[in-house]
Amino acid sequence: MDEKLKIFYDLFDRRRSVREFDDREIEHDKLKRILERLRRAQSAANRQPWHFVLLDRKGREEFNALLTREGFRNAPLIIVACAEPERAWVRKSDGKNYAWVDVTIALTEMVGAATAEGLGTCWIASIDPETIRNVLSIPGDMEIVGLIVMGYPKTPLDKVDKDRKTLEEIIHYGRW
Ligand SMILES: Cc1cc2nc3c(=O)[nH]c(=O)nc-3n(C[C@H](O)[C@H](O)[C@H](O)COP(=O)(O)O)c2cc1C
Repeated sequence: MDEKLKIFYDLFDRRRSVREFDDREIEHDKLKRILERLRRAQSAANRQPWHFVLLDRKGREEFNALLTREGFRNAPLIIVACAEPERAWVRKSDGKNYAWVDVTIALTEMVGAATAEGLGTCWIASIDPETIRNVLSIPGDMEIVGLIVMGYPKTPLDKVDKDRKTLEEIIHYGRW
């Protein structure tokens, strides 16, 4: 395989959910590049119905108390992803609002960049959004989609086998 292609595909193989972080902070330039992926991500009708609240380690005791796992509490960065449904594109035929889809796509692009930068990430959807809303003063018209924790992984990212369904189970050619 072409070297550039290999680098691209290896990136996806290296990504795994990281739940233990070391004490290093994320360098400013690195973080800027990673966050730029959120800004540039695609969204339905380019509505960009998203906001992201960043929490570094400073003054995070109250928030950390909301995290159930010890490892997550040591993450140098927590990103709270919010969707703004009122700004999002809505599919006419059935009224489906695409705000959460758009937020998730932006996060996925960001997670790819973080992986390329040698950082680990983990999605956390298992949260109590109303408690987080109160602690962080998130406006009522925002929906809290989830958190991404990010930092240098305790054990470096490496290619891992994943417990996944087979292609035959999920791909349907022509019709179901
Ligand atoms: C939308 C979403 C929500 C998730 N929520 C949690 C969570 O609340 N806590 C957690 O430890 N992992 C969470 N994860 C991580 C998944 O458990 C993980 O992606 C899955 O087991 C596959 O493992 P891998 O990411 O290492 O490939 C979440 C992942 C996604 C995509």
